Amino acid sequence: EMKLMNQISRDQLTSIRQFAFDDASKDHSGHGVDHLKRVEQLIHTISQKEENDESISVAAGLLHDVIDDKLTNDPVAKLTQVNQFLVRLNISNPVIDEINLTINNMSFSKTLTDQQVELSLAGKVVQDADRLDAIGALGIGRAFYYSGKVGEAMYDPQKKPRMHMTKEQYRHEPGTTINHFYEKLLLIVDQLNTITARKIGQHRQQVMLKFIAEFKDEWEEIIPDDG
Ligand code: ADP
Ligand code: NI
Repeated sequence: EMKLMNQISRDQLTSIRQFAFDDASKDHSGHGVDHLKRVEQLIHTISQKEENDESISVAAGLLHDVIDDKLTNDPVAKLTQVNQFLVRLNISNPVIDEINLTINNMSFSKTLTDQQVELSLAGKVVQDADRLDAIGALGIGRAFYYSGKVGEAMYDPQKKPRMHMTKEQYRHEPGTTINHFYEKLLLIVDQLNTITARKIGQHRQQVMLKFIAEFKDEWEEIIPDDG
């Protein structure tokens, strides 16, 4: 069976990109236009090795953070706006449904709920791309950037990482940046869907492990009695 490809045209993607870049343009929490550009590039890299309709992944990748409840206080209204926009662009209903399935269910916090929804292949590729941008050197940068924005400490040796958190704890209880590595970022490599993403992820995992070891060494050199 031949899989339908390029169900979203170049011109439609250009409009979606503009919509998403506008929405992300004022972000200073690590979810800005630069994040979307990296996600799109990673989708392209991963799609080379998969029989994936890259156009659907790119559309969902560009739109995934518009409805994130960390980034908007009205995710339901945002989702409605996204769908009205897609209808106006004449995207077909099954494709709109696949974009919705992806952006509503791809987040890490969704994987902490009991009822997880199986993503389509296009969705799995987007999820991999978004997760890869949360790890490695860029992931380190984004984690500190985000923590500063929400007022979390970088590190507190007295605070232990919280494993097996609920979605609500993960979203709303302050932690520390270093604990965020144990609570989420170091777990990502084992949750990647595609072989290509896993290869990229393994290198990024080593970068994070090395960084954390150095960070703790330097911290203890300066404050030897803490912790
Ligand atoms: P998802 O959308 O898959 O649930 P997030 O939106 O939580 O993922 O993560 C997006 C980015 O924000 C990642 O780079 C992540 O490290 C960062 N981030 C989210 N929550 C925290 C936190 N509590 N501390 C530090 N960084 C965070
Ligand atoms: Ni994202």
